[in-house]
Amino acid sequence: MALQLVPLGEAAGVEVRGIDPRAVTGPDLEALLSAWRDHLVLLIRGTALTDPELIAFARVFGALDPPGPNAYGAPFLPDFPELNVISNVVKDGQPIGGLGAGEAVWHADMTYQDRPPKAAVLHAIELPESGGDTYFANMITAYETLPGGLKQRIEGHAAIHDAAHNSAGQLRKGYKETADVSQTPGARHSLVRTDPDTGRKALFLGRRPHSYILGLEVAESEDLLDALWDHATQPRFAIAHQWRVADTLIWNNLCLLHRRDPFDDSARRIMHRAQIAGDHPVA
Ligand code: OGA
Ligand code: MN
Repeated sequence: MALQLVPLGEAAGVEVRGIDPRAVTGPDLEALLSAWRDHLVLLIRGTALTDPELIAFARVFGALDPPGPNAYGAPFLPDFPELNVISNVVKDGQPIGGLGAGEAVWHADMTYQDRPPKAAVLHAIELPESGGDTYFANMITAYETLPGGLKQRIEGHAAIHDAAHNSAGQLRKGYKETADVSQTPGARHSLVRTDPDTGRKALFLGRRPHSYILGLEVAESEDLLDALWDHATQPRFAIAHQWRVADTLIWNNLCLLHRRDPFDDSARRIMHRAQIAGDHPVA
C-alpha cells in the first residue's frame, strides 16, 4: 500500500500510514523525509518497536545524540545508552525514567547545549488510561505572526537557555539554584533561528523559567520574554496528541515547543526516546 499522510491538526503534524517503521526504504523513505521537513511532527501508529528497532528507525532522520544528563547521574537503559526513558515508574525505589507524572511545561529539549538535538523520537510502551497528552506548538508560524514591534525588539538578540533544570522543573545533578536570571548557566542562542534544511525562520525560546535575554535589564528581559511566550503558546499554533500504545512520534525540536499534561501517578507510563543530533543554531 502506498504511504498516506493524514493531518494531525491545523498547526502542524501528519500521521504517516502505510509504512513499517522497521523497514522503510526507497520512495517511501523519501516521502517520509519530505513529510518530516514539511510537517514538523510525524506520527506512526500500531507498530511496537524493540529498543534496537527504535534506534534503527531514529537513525533514518540523522545521527543520534546521547540523552541529556538525568537527575540520577546514570543512563536509564545501560544496554542502550543512546536511548532515554520517560516514565513515572519506580522500581525497587529507583525511577526507571525521567519527568515523573507531573506537567512538563512548554519547552524544547536540551537547548541548554550549544548543539541541541534537532529532533526527538518518542515511542509509547505503556500508558495511563487518561492524561499525559503531549502538545506541540509551531514556532515558524509563531514567528511569522509575531507583531511587528516584538519582531523588531528581538532582532539580533540572544537568550540564555537554562541548563540547571529539566522540563519537569527538577534541578539537574551538579547544579544549584540561582536567584539572578542573568547568571543562569546554559547555552546562549539567538531568539530567531533559521532552519538550515529549509531556510525557514522560527522563534527559538527553549523554556521560560530561568531564561534571560542578554544585554537587557532583568525587568525588561522578563517583560519581553513574557510577551514572546504569551504569543508563542497560543492554542492556534498548537496540536494535541493523545497517545496509544505502540505510537511513535517524531518531532522537530528546534521549530516547535512541546508540553505534556500531568497524569495519575498511580498509573504507569513508559516511553523510550531517541534524539537526533543537530547543528549549532544560527540566526
Ligand atoms: C520529552 C518530553 C513528553 C511526554 O520526551 O522530551 O517532553 O509526552 N516528553 O512524555
Ligand atoms: Mn521534552
